[in-house]
Amino acid sequence: MLIILICEFVAKKILIKNIKKLVQVEDEIRLKISGKEMANVGIIENAWLLLENDKIAAFGIMDELQLSDLAIGNEFKEIDASGKLVFPSFVDSHTHLVYAGSREIEYIDKIKGLSYEEIAKRGGGILNSSKRLQEASENELYEQAVHRIKEIISQGTGAVEIKSGYGLNTEAELKMLRVIKRLKENMPISIKSTFLGAHSVPAEYKGRQTDYVDLVINEMIPVVAAEDLADYIDVFCDKGFFTVEDTDRILMAGMKHGLRAKIHANELDYSGGVQVGVKYNALSVDHLEYVGDDEINALLGSETMPTILPGAAFFLGLEYSPVRKMIDAGLPVAIASDFNPGSSPSGNMKFMMSLACINYKMLPEEVINATTINTAYAMGLSEEMGSIAVGKKANLFITKEIPSIEFMPYAYGSDLIETVILNGKVVLNEN
Ligand code: NIG
Ligand code: FE
Repeated sequence: MLIILICEFVAKKILIKNIKKLVQVEDEIRLKISGKEMANVGIIENAWLLLENDKIAAFGIMDELQLSDLAIGNEFKEIDASGKLVFPSFVDSHTHLVYAGSREIEYIDKIKGLSYEEIAKRGGGILNSSKRLQEASENELYEQAVHRIKEIISQGTGAVEIKSGYGLNTEAELKMLRVIKRLKENMPISIKSTFLGAHSVPAEYKGRQTDYVDLVINEMIPVVAAEDLADYIDVFCDKGFFTVEDTDRILMAGMKHGLRAKIHANELDYSGGVQVGVKYNALSVDHLEYVGDDEINALLGSETMPTILPGAAFFLGLEYSPVRKMIDAGLPVAIASDFNPGSSPSGNMKFMMSLACINYKMLPEEVINATTINTAYAMGLSEEMGSIAVGKKANLFITKEIPSIEFMPYAYGSDLIETVILNGKVVLNEN
């Protein structure tokens, strides 16, 4: 049973003892993990972990635990994690989880053989969500998003990026971004907000794509920036959506307003999106079903995190991104959920781990790095989240009793998360 507790427990310190494996520990904070290094994860067997206020204070092996050294007195909560693993929270660096309703009708169209682009051309897809979002009130959108956030918290996520992009006019885009702002203020999870006005060309601009791009640049971006409603800017740079030229113009305008890029690229074709993203020093380029040597060479040596969205490829039956080739070439890779009503109606990062292992031949250690520290990088958070390191935010989860780290992606349908701690407080306990 799912219980999200508003924690009345006021102890400022939590000591987790007898941890079978403390996973993804770091003595020195690294911003991202690339290439061969992705196959390594720091693990302490039979460990303890001390949380103080909202931060990780110390950790070590049980045999060396001296309570007197920790100066914790009597005012601390003790959790016995015998037989259990402790992981840093998942960081989900790409979602669209503010949306109205659901799109299971298109699910049937997909089953019957229509492609994502065909569904979009018939007014389904993003435009379908856009119509519903425009009609929904800010409160309705907020309540639906809160429900989704509670769900992903119970599934181990401790930080999430959320995009606009179902508004597609100035008023509705601002409404979405204000909902994200409210979520930031009220939810215990860390949230970053991305302006995605160029997600799709709205119906009333059909045949006048450049006019819509002008609207995004001249009207939307200035207000979004002036009201400080976004941390990042995104464009869906792909076949049938926005061109490299459109993307270039929008990212330039975003940059002038201090918005760093995180873009959708190469989901449906070799779109040139990776190259234009790297040109603007994008924090991440996401999807990447179509990646060849040119894209890999553009990414090598850049500060841009290639981000794979295995849920969308699974749900839409897309090509699988050549992740092994990217890692073997020395690139870092991040894995996010893309939680949205059309192409990935799930924000379950543990399931994304399983998909990444099976469909992309990633090792469990690689998917741990890809869903924690590398996604933290992809939302500008790797100095404070994504690993168990002293001084980082105390966002983590304790599993049920399980045998190994590999068991997490292996047991793909099992709910293995027992206790969730966010900001140093227990917010969920199914024990
Ligand atoms: O990331 N690819 C573009 N946008 C979303 C899909 C949004 C939708 O279909 O509603 C994605 O998959
Ligand atoms: Fe997306």
